[in-house]
Order: sequence, then structure tokens, then C-alpha cells
Amino acid sequence: MIAMHERTAEALDPAPSERDRRRPLVATLTLGCKLNQAETQSLARELERAGCTIVDRPVPADGYLINTCTITHVADAKARRLVRMVKRLSPDAPVVVTGCYAERAGEALARETGADVVLGNADKQRAGAALLEALGGTRPLSAGRPARAAPGRTRAFVKIQEGCDDVCAFCIVPRVRGRERGIPIPEVVRAAQAREAAGALEIVLTGTQPGAYGRDRSDGTSAARLLEALLAETALPRIRYSSIQPQDVTPEFLAQWEDARLCRHFHLALQSGRDPVLRRMRRRYDTGAFLRALDWIRAAVPGAAVTTDVIAGFPQETEADFQRTLATCEEAAFADLHVFPYSSRPGTSAALLPDDVPPPVKRERVQTLLALAERSAARYRERLVGTVQPVLFEGRRAHNGRALWQGLTDTYVPVHVPVEASSAELSNRLASVRVDSVSSGAVHGRVLA
Ligand code: F3S
Repeated sequence: MIAMHERTAEALDPAPSERDRRRPLVATLTLGCKLNQAETQSLARELERAGCTIVDRPVPADGYLINTCTITHVADAKARRLVRMVKRLSPDAPVVVTGCYAERAGEALARETGADVVLGNADKQRAGAALLEALGGTRPLSAGRPARAAPGRTRAFVKIQEGCDDVCAFCIVPRVRGRERGIPIPEVVRAAQAREAAGALEIVLTGTQPGAYGRDRSDGTSAARLLEALLAETALPRIRYSSIQPQDVTPEFLAQWEDARLCRHFHLALQSGRDPVLRRMRRRYDTGAFLRALDWIRAAVPGAAVTTDVIAGFPQETEADFQRTLATCEEAAFADLHVFPYSSRPGTSAALLPDDVPPPVKRERVQTLLALAERSAARYRERLVGTVQPVLFEGRRAHNGRALWQGLTDTYVPVHVPVEASSAELSNRLASVRVDSVSSGAVHGRVLA
């Protein structure tokens, strides 16, 4: 998902306290995947401990920390635009840029955008310290500033591994993230316990290739063992596994879902529904294996939502290939699809192939897939009408002049409840919601007593 990461609830934030007004205001902004979100949250906590007030949106601020993505040329352009935007918002504020695009572009990014400090992934841990150092000479802005809790208080991202050994033909990630390195189970458990102690009700386990957790070790470490430890050693009501591959779906892994604290949401990237294209992409499964993995998930975890990623217009993708992808997606009955036009990344093996699907054809395929994504999501959500779903509320937002509580089901469906229909404070609370209706962006319902 290449987007400014989802915001929770800010529009109705309270006025800043006197203390907040004296603290430097730092905007921590994330592009890219949940791994980037996990890393930004950890840098934001460091900055908060050092006395900064954190926001996660581009507003006038005393300093900026931007964590970038380079998965497509669009992600690169977004990063450049964001740096320029914050430079316009607060011309004197230092801007530290890190992440995958910073890793790839290096100092050229500073020259092109005016960023003050550029740190690649290897130096990302120093990004907070670099910003604090740059802030040393600034005076905090003072009045009328929206203040809110640092991101991650309700849903905290916990990094479990980094790097990818699979090296798919189209993917730049192994170049900018390196080989797989898992974080040992006790360390992940300690991080989860810290987030629990800080009040988080959900943790999202993230990585470049989270399903391959443990593959770099020979001591029996695996995703299943990690989940067992987290379930045994925390009382977190929700644990979410951010994404897996079909080959990671084993009986031992799925057996963990007997514990209802594990979220019934599985993100498996299909990329293409046609085997010769999957082989050219150097994916490690064919469509038969993919659909079998879905059957196993649905048999083991009733009500599970399965979402996916699809690339439109990979080199040499024919109309017949594309039609097969559409048919596979229909058959898979995904709860949602993320659609990407193929973007040639220098340094990948696919970049050596001619990018030969004409742009108008690519655009048309993207539109067709997006329409399918909308139909699939609507079908999945309509099945929820009349049911009672567990919802974790993250806060309030304003929508079309109405105040709404906003939350997520464990199956990752956004839920809205009108504030006037619930007298209780729902921020950072789990509640049962009866779903009454569905609209394009969310399901709507009421909180049960
Ligand atoms: Fe983007 Fe880097 Fe994640 S390229 S998708 S931020 S690993």
C-alpha cells in the first residue's frame, strides 16, 4: 500500500495543553508499507521521550521526519512531493528523510528537494537523533497547535523481521532492505509487552517478508512459535499478522487461530492469476497452490477476510493473461484488492525486460481491477450486515459534517458509528457492533451495550 499511512482521528482533537505548546512539534510522516509504519512509530516514541509532541500529518511544525518508500516510481514522486510540501509549510524547520527511497536515492534526494538530512535504511535508527540534533538550534512554535497522542497508541506496529531472500523479478525491496534477518522471539515479545503496557489493544506484526519469519535461523524459530509465545506472554486482545505468502500457510501456523485473539485477516499477494506470468515474476507458487492456501485458511478460520495485491501490465502480460487474473480474483473472492500498475525499477531483473504493455492498456487494466476490487469488497462487507462484529475504535473523525467514531473489525473492515448514537467514549476501546449498512468506504452500525 503506497499511501500516506491511514490516519486515525484528528479532526476533533482537543486544544493543546500549556505543556504541549512549549514542546517542539514534530511531524512524522510515513509512505509505504506497514514495516515503514512500525519503524516510524518507534522513531516517534523516541522523539516523544526526548520531549517532542508528535503529529502524523503534514502540518506546520518545528521539524519533520519522513520515512519513504521506493516500490514504484509513483512512490518516489510522492516522497519528493512530500519533502517539498513540508519545506513550504515550515521553511526553517529541519527535514530528515529516511527509508527505502532515501536508501536508493541518497544525497541526490537532498539536492533535488532541499531535505536537510538523508539517511538510508541502514542508518534509519539514527533518524530521531539526527532530527533532535537539528532541532537543537530551533525555537518551538507556540500557539494554536493541534496536539494529539503519538501514533500507535491503539494499534501498534511491531517489527519482527527485515529483508527478503525471495528476490521477485519486479521487486526493489531486497535491494533496499537486504537479506532476511528475523528479530529473536524474546525481543519481539518484549516489544509487544511494552506496547501493551503503553495501552495498545492491538499489535500488527510487520516485516518485509513476515510469513518467512524464522527462515534465516536453524533453531526451530518459526511464525507459529512466535505466535505461541505472544499469545502466552501477553494479554493483548488483538494480534494481527500483516502479510504472508501461500507457501507460509501451514497447518501449524493456522492452528494458532484457535485463539480468537488472532485477527481473522490474511493478506496474501497474488500479483497475477496466470502461471506463466507468475513464473516470469519469479513468484514461488502457482495459482493452484494459491487457491489451495485460501481453502485451508477458510476451513481453519471461519469468516476470515483474505486481501491481496495485483500488478497490472507486467512485461509481456497478454490480454488472455489479464483475463485469467480477473477470473482467478473472482474465484478467490477477496475481501479487498490493492492494485498496482507495473513500474519498472532499475536494479531489478524485470527491468531488463521490455516494459511492453502500452500505458493506456495498463491504465485500463488497473481500472478494471479497481472495479473488481470495489465489487469484491462490497460483497464481503454486505455479508456482515445483521451480524455482530468486534471493533477496535481508534478515535473520532468528521465526515460530511458528521462526527463519527472510527474503528476496524478484526477482519480489517473500517466501521463508522455516529457519535450521537453512542454516549460512551470509544477511543481505544473494543466494542461489539451490530452492522446495519454498508457504504463504499466502510460499514455502519451501532454499539451494543
Ligand atoms: Fe516500500 Fe520499502 Fe516497504 S520499498 S513497500 S517502504 S520495504
